[in-house]
Amino acid sequence: MKADIESLTADDARAHAAELGALLEDVVDGGASIGFLSPLAPSEARDYWQTVVRALAEGSRALLVAREADGAILGTVQLDLVMRPNGRHRGEVAKLMVHRLARRRGIGRALMLAVDEHARRLGRATLFLDTRLGDPAERLYRSVGWTFVGSIPRCARSTNGALDANAIYYKLLDRG
Ligand SMILES: CC(C)(COP(=O)(O)OP(=O)(O)OC[C@H]1O[C@@H](n2cnc3c(N)ncnc32)[C@H](O)[C@@H]1OP(=O)(O)O)[C@@H](O)C(=O)NCCC(=O)NCCS
Repeated sequence: MKADIESLTADDARAHAAELGALLEDVVDGGASIGFLSPLAPSEARDYWQTVVRALAEGSRALLVAREADGAILGTVQLDLVMRPNGRHRGEVAKLMVHRLARRRGIGRALMLAVDEHARRLGRATLFLDTRLGDPAERLYRSVGWTFVGSIPRCARSTNGALDANAIYYKLLDRG
């Protein structure tokens, strides 16, 4: 895997908004179930990343990116930090995405392992996520130690109009 993984601040994310927007458009247009429907308007992608920038600024989110040697962003993953008083040990891993041109090079796996490390450093040892049932991402999650919990039928609409089931996973990190 030829990519470095780093955590972005709100200012970093704002500075890379166009690139992050293009990544989101690529992944959504490729049929990913990550909250949006294709075709994704550039303005929708921009608005979404603005919400991420705000969450980074208030400290309720972490954003990791995988970069090529030339600095190009190939993939991202987020850690949404539960801010409720009884959930400050918990985080939701969300929006794992790798550009279609950079897939099957181990970047998704590297991002998932990096988000574990980041979560551990932040004291978030109970992690959860959901994805579309049957997506290739499930193989990735299982291969890096995530446990399948169950599935909600008719959970999310896909671009073709079908209502897909989701697949819920958790991972308990060693608290060190
Ligand atoms: C899921 C995704 C992040 C994987 O990224 P990636 O960089 O290609 O993943 P990796 O190269 O690290 O693959 C790790 C393992 O996952 C599994 N995997 C990944 N893509 C796969 C595919 N298309 N088909 C079958 N298995 C797949 C394999 O087990 C793979 O290991 P291998 O290459 O040694 O066989 C990427 O396909 C993506 O961005 N998809 C769209 C967004 C999405 O679905 N996100 C997750 C849900 S929120």
